[in-house]
Amino acid sequence: MIGIENTSQGELPNITFKNVSFSWPGNKENVINKCGFSIKKNGLWMIVGKNGSGKSTLLKLINGLLKPSNGYIYNTANVGMVFQNPDHQILMPNCRSELLLNINQKLSRKDINNKIYSALNNVGLTGFEKRPIHTLSGGQKQRLTIACCLISDKNFLLMDEPTALLDSSSQLKVLEIIKNLTNNKKNPFTALWITHRLEELIYADAVAEFKNGNLSDWQKPLKFHYN
Ligand SMILES: Nc1ncnc2c1ncn2[C@@H]1O[C@H](COP(=O)(O)OP(=O)(O)OP(=O)(O)O)[C@@H](O)[C@H]1O
Ligand SMILES: [Mg+2]
Repeated sequence: MIGIENTSQGELPNITFKNVSFSWPGNKENVINKCGFSIKKNGLWMIVGKNGSGKSTLLKLINGLLKPSNGYIYNTANVGMVFQNPDHQILMPNCRSELLLNINQKLSRKDINNKIYSALNNVGLTGFEKRPIHTLSGGQKQRLTIACCLISDKNFLLMDEPTALLDSSSQLKVLEIIKNLTNNKKNPFTALWITHRLEELIYADAVAEFKNGNLSDWQKPLKFHYN
């Protein structure tokens, strides 16, 4: 069976892979191989794995950029992406215009302004509305990409090494922002975070390793072993 099912968002996310395989064109070997896992609770989920093991490919399957060659993907979440390099996803010249690009244009001006304020506030960028993008630090740009996901009402962020280019204090800020969002019981939110920086794992609600085309069982960070 091959299939993808996307339904409208609910309180709890449900991303389920059943026996999913995928190979890149021209490559017979499956980079994702009979992969099965599910995420059915809000929280911060982290994945580690060697370079080239297929973690970014997995995220592209989750958000529907790629189709499985076999298996079944079920997704009820409203998924947003945050990449390693914010320069690869920010398009506009200043924070407000970047946020406007991501907002539902049918909202009233007042609602738009409230949402811009709240999205910037949620990522520690209050007052940055008029700031040109080129004046932002790398960490601030990364937080703006998160604000863009918030303003478009994403409730499930796929984060592909979001802190790899950041220094330790910016890394910590991004981690804490995501941790706060995923802890907010009033506004359920989930992040799936890929990292090579093992010191981040302690922030996760659950950790798994991507290896041999498949994801291991989810573990509590203190029980998780990786080498
Ligand atoms: N667009 C593409 N076309 C062909 N092969 C690709 C493409 N993107 C990735 N691959 C291959 O798929 C395999 C998995 O790559 P992927 O980027 O998913 O790994 P990763 O686990 O994210 O690695 P890293 O930790 O270095 O980011 C690699 O062998 C890679 O060369
Ligand atoms: Mg990758």
